[in-house]
Amino acid sequence: MRAVVLGVDDTFTISEIPEPVAGPGEVAIRVAFAGVQYGDVLVRNAHFPIPRPFVPGFEAAGVIVAVGEGVDRARIGEQVVALVGGGAYAEVVTAPAALAINATGVDPRTAAGFGWATPTAYDLINSVGRVRRGDSVLIHAAAGGVGSLAGQFAAAAGAERIVGVVGNPGRVRYARGFGYHEVLTRDRFPDALGEELFDVVLDPIGGATRLESLARLAPHGRILVYGNIATFDPVTVSANDLLMNGQSLLTYNSDLAARTHPYRLAESAARAMAAVTDGSVRIDVTAEYALADVETAIASLADGATHGKSIVRIG
Ligand SMILES: NC(=O)c1ccc[n+]([C@@H]2O[C@H](COP(=O)([O-])OP(=O)(O)OC[C@H]3O[C@@H](n4cnc5c(N)ncnc54)[C@H](OP(=O)(O)O)[C@@H]3O)[C@@H](O)[C@H]2O)c1
Repeated sequence: MRAVVLGVDDTFTISEIPEPVAGPGEVAIRVAFAGVQYGDVLVRNAHFPIPRPFVPGFEAAGVIVAVGEGVDRARIGEQVVALVGGGAYAEVVTAPAALAINATGVDPRTAAGFGWATPTAYDLINSVGRVRRGDSVLIHAAAGGVGSLAGQFAAAAGAERIVGVVGNPGRVRYARGFGYHEVLTRDRFPDALGEELFDVVLDPIGGATRLESLARLAPHGRILVYGNIATFDPVTVSANDLLMNGQSLLTYNSDLAARTHPYRLAESAARAMAAVTDGSVRIDVTAEYALADVETAIASLADGATHGKSIVRIG
């Protein structure tokens, strides 16, 4: 089969490699489209200790063509999007059966766009942040894959005020289409907020933004740390200060959840998929690349030249 291979020299090449075979508890999927996500940038930049050569790609939409031991054969032919630890930029990928999420009735481009971002946004707002009717929510990287979905899930949860932060004015109008009541450019954060405090803050940024966001928490507020786009520098927080204000710092790691609690993640993904199917959440696929252009797709994401979701056409 054809697959994109990331070599030791940091280059992506299309190679012929053997098709993977579904092992126990796995399914094999013929991939139609794969989603591009920030993890591709981190892998390309060697932030994770993944041995190379490596077939990248973490989200694959397609049809189950084979099942391994212990998996119901009735799943063959099912339309799914699989959350995988690699291998999606290939004609066939194997995935844990639990994380091959049913996507019947969702077109495969949208299913690829669903990726990890949609269950992540669902969990950040509903499972971890526990956003309730009347809450105020501040979301950094609001025009990104997770941010554009988190705004919509916050609106669906009944948040009374949803404020987004984006990198440049061009993204302000774009983000406004995803449930936000107000969107600020990064240079205006936090000053433009005056004295405003928030019940929930979503922070994939880190560093100074994390400290400024902590200062914006309302009594009993929750800050959700789920990435370090700007910096991996550690941020020190006083548990005593949090306690005095009844506040919490929570983290979320979907990659870890996939390994430790796959059924819990799958349940959130199924709920998120239901929101996509019923139209309450919209996935905005804005760019489609050929398999030969994976490197360009990932570079565009890294350079901040994209908005919404990019996908790669495989089948
Ligand atoms: N923990 C988890 O389970 C989990 C799951 C999924 C994703 N994530 C993480 O969540 C983050 C967002 O992922 P995504 O898929 O939404 O990525 P994405 O679509 O690439 O969006 C990232 C956004 O970050 C903003 N950005 C870039 N550089 C920045 C900087 N220096 N400071 C502030 N903002 C910056 C960009 O928006 P502007 O140009 O508007 O600034 C971009 O839209 C990543 O860190 C990813 O690793 C974590």
